[in-house]
Amino acid sequence: MRGLCGKDGRQNGEILHLLSGPGRSGSEITTIEGVAPDGELDPVQEAFWDNHGLQCGYCTAGMIITAMELIEKNPDPSEEQVRQGLKGNICRCTGYQNIVKSVLAAAEAKRS
Ligand code: FES
Repeated sequence: MRGLCGKDGRQNGEILHLLSGPGRSGSEITTIEGVAPDGELDPVQEAFWDNHGLQCGYCTAGMIITAMELIEKNPDPSEEQVRQGLKGNICRCTGYQNIVKSVLAAAEAKRS
């Protein structure tokens, strides 16, 4: 299960319901704070940094967590697959171009 930031209110409500629902005790939840526990950035975080994948940062936690799951499921995504994978995350700043570029760069870095 993953927590998502930058989603619309309805989806956040669904996430909160899922987190508090029956049978959820013992589930593992990774937040953006848990991605770099020793202070060393995950390759996805580094790719966002290197490719200017953020501006204000409001959506960034959700984008990175979503990107990590996307890359885990598909290590070599196409640009279209990245755009589809991120479509539930709203960014009001970047126009998505550098976010998509960041995710593609992160996938490439994780493959090498
Ligand atoms: S960087 Fe500002 S909302 Fe995405």
